[in-house]
Amino acid sequence: MGFRRMGWHELLWVGRLLVLMQLLHGVFGWGKDGHFAVCKIAEEYLTKDALATVKELLPDSARGDCHDTAGHKDRCVTGAIFNYTKQLFSAYQGYSPQLSYNLTEALMFLAHFIGDVHQPLHVGFLGDLGGNTITVSWYRRKTNLHHVWDTMIIDSAVKTLYGSDLATMIQAIQRNITDAWSNDVSSWKNCGHNQTVCPNVYASESVRMACKFAYRNATPGSTLEDEYFLSRLPIVEKRLAQGGIRLAAVLNRLFNSEVKIAQA
Ligand SMILES: *[C@@H]1O[C@H](CO)[C@@H](O)[C@H](O)[C@H]1NC(C)=O
Ligand SMILES: *[C@@H]1O[C@H](CO)[C@@H](O)[C@H](O)[C@H]1NC(C)=O
Ligand SMILES: *[C@@H]1O[C@H](CO)[C@@H](O)[C@H](O)[C@H]1NC(C)=O
Ligand SMILES: *[C@@H]1O[C@H](CO)[C@@H](O)[C@H](O)[C@H]1NC(C)=O
Repeated sequence: MGFRRMGWHELLWVGRLLVLMQLLHGVFGWGKDGHFAVCKIAEEYLTKDALATVKELLPDSARGDCHDTAGHKDRCVTGAIFNYTKQLFSAYQGYSPQLSYNLTEALMFLAHFIGDVHQPLHVGFLGDLGGNTITVSWYRRKTNLHHVWDTMIIDSAVKTLYGSDLATMIQAIQRNITDAWSNDVSSWKNCGHNQTVCPNVYASESVRMACKFAYRNATPGSTLEDEYFLSRLPIVEKRLAQGGIRLAAVLNRLFNSEVKIAQA
């Protein structure tokens, strides 16, 4: 339903953003489906101004090469979020007339990292590289815990619970946003002291969830099956929802023409 309501034009920016994001090699974080879900959820909540700016920043020409140095910039996800928010803020809130940043890249990285900081193991412990060195079996497949959280939980959910259709999963999450979680959404969006973005808040939530859900009962060599899958999936779905809502909120704050006038 969510897709049908939307014109091809609206879908286009998500597509472009994803094409660019997929070119980021070696970045830990949600897999392709997770990022798609976050962008898709965000899209519904963008203001007209924000959507217009997002489209403007993602022209066809933006399909070009996107170097993989992103993997190295990524060492500190909260720092990267502040960095790219600041670049977009100074460009769009009129503080810096000279545009020395590539704002297309800034938007792309910002969207990417806001998604990733919501993956609990993205900010897991450095000693195990966020679960990358914890070898586990996901049902009969050998993998590592980080990959389980990036990709496998979402994959298995799409295949076994959502008729192999990612769009159906996204719609289920969207229904919760307007229903079961509707009272929480405004607190997800808010950052204290009128900050544009608050990655430290998102990251500390992730750390708590990593301890409480991701690492628990997932010792090296363990086999993770239904019990782990079904108890962790709701966490993953809520984090995708929060990532999408917050991405939209941040872009709406950045690309809000009223703020520009008020501060001028
Ligand atoms: C900005 O980055 C995008 C994506 O990497 C690239 O396609 C575009 O050419 C860059 N623009 C400028 C002005 O360098
Ligand atoms: C901030 O962005 C610039 C590119 O615009 C990049 O060179 C730098 O590595 C980034 N720093 C962080 C911490 O992400
Ligand atoms: C929807 O919310 C309920 C209640 O919090 C939760 O049990 C369920 O897993 C959620 N479903 C999705 C798709 O997020
Ligand atoms: C946040 O912004 C609103 C309106 O712009 C202002 O009234 C309020 O005092 C600000 N709050 C803080 C904590 O800065």
